[in-house]
Amino acid sequence: MSAERRSRLVVVSNRVAINEKAMRAGGLAVALLDALKESGGLWFGWSGRVSDSTRVSTERFDRGRLSAVTTDLSSEDYEEYYNGFANRTLWPLFHYRTDLTRFDRDDYQGYIRVNQRFAHVLKPLLKANDLIWVHDYHLIAFGEELRRMGARQTMGFFLHIPFPSPEVLTALPVHDLLIRALFAYDVLGFQTETDRHCFHEYVRYEAGGHVDAQGRAHAWGRQVETAIFPIGIDSAEVARFAVSKEAKAHSSRMARVLRNRLGVVGVDRLDYTMGLPERFRAFARFLETYPENRGRVSFVQLAPPSRADVPEYVDIRHELEGLSGSINAEHSEFDWTPLRYINRGFSRRALAGIFRLARVGLVTPLRDGMNLVAKEYVAAQSARDPGVLVLSRFAGAARRGADAALIVNPYDIQGVADALHSALGMSLPERKERWRSLVASVREHDITEWREGFVRYLQAAQRADRRH
Ligand code: G6P
Repeated sequence: MSAERRSRLVVVSNRVAINEKAMRAGGLAVALLDALKESGGLWFGWSGRVSDSTRVSTERFDRGRLSAVTTDLSSEDYEEYYNGFANRTLWPLFHYRTDLTRFDRDDYQGYIRVNQRFAHVLKPLLKANDLIWVHDYHLIAFGEELRRMGARQTMGFFLHIPFPSPEVLTALPVHDLLIRALFAYDVLGFQTETDRHCFHEYVRYEAGGHVDAQGRAHAWGRQVETAIFPIGIDSAEVARFAVSKEAKAHSSRMARVLRNRLGVVGVDRLDYTMGLPERFRAFARFLETYPENRGRVSFVQLAPPSRADVPEYVDIRHELEGLSGSINAEHSEFDWTPLRYINRGFSRRALAGIFRLARVGLVTPLRDGMNLVAKEYVAAQSARDPGVLVLSRFAGAARRGADAALIVNPYDIQGVADALHSALGMSLPERKERWRSLVASVREHDITEWREGFVRYLQAAQRADRRH
């Protein structure tokens, strides 16, 4: 066995979900668990607890092949790092919501402090030839802090969310410090070509650097490999989930509620990037433009609350409560509720059952790194009677292998209403043909391909490093 194959994979992410039961559809933690289950290794991050004890806990699971080390956040860390810089500055900014982006120097200091502390906790647990794979916008500065502490291991960073255009990114007063920190890694991974292109543009025009023919970025006297790794799902697992007992129980529950009506489903964290108000309006417009569907179609939107201590999330929640209430008040009949809007999470098995029953999966984010719900919806369909995916052009998932979805612009309310109408009227042969093309791509570009692709880059970087 080669030295690289013996290297342990160390995954670092803010969110660590070791308990499958607690996990919901899509999202980073599900994808990472799926990836780590196959490779084994160490998963390090936040415990999800806020306490002033800064305790570090270790848990082993999956027959000891995988261990998770987690640490608590203090209430100040939680405010400044998680609610503050990560979720009130970077999250809106990277999703092009400069209107919601707020910058506070204390939050930035808190972000750096937590990145430092995470590095400090992980450092003594590392082995010399570990491959370290850091995830997402919470931990951009982590690698630089670990290097400052003398770590020499090969390190990569994968950004799950979009990388914004330099015009947008430079609205952040500390953009240069943040992007410079990315050069502490050996490999940078992005979801789509557009994200990587925006990073390259930043390197060329803001950092005064250059990008060589291999896509390696050079700036600040450092260099970093850049590549694209569109994240996927474990499609076989989702297909199994969709025929599980729990899935069937949820399909029948939903069928009882729908009573032969066609179901449209949306599943998203309750987040302003998901385009939920626009989606609700599009559904109302669909009922107005195509009134023959009144009483014939029901829309179920599941939106588990997220980041509930961040004011912008409180606002979107209120907005959606008002909007769903007024749409139902205006359109309902005694025996028909057009929109069922539910603020709670469901297990992945239950969701797979709901997806399988719904004739249309409505995935219309205003901006999204990839969107794994779109892929899960496809993977959960039955080959004999598949549903139709209506997908936003602004989801990373629309960039590759999704031509057979109905691609929409989520800002175009009438356009989405029309797409919904086409999806609901689509013939079985056309649904089958489109689904076969979508599912082939979801199966081919799965979570294993994503993990192996990234790890191969890390291994190559490790080999190159040894030669020096
Ligand atoms: C997105 C982010 C992840 C994050 C997830 C859930 O998918 O890219 O990094 O973990 O949302 O958000 P939360 O704040 O609950 O971790």
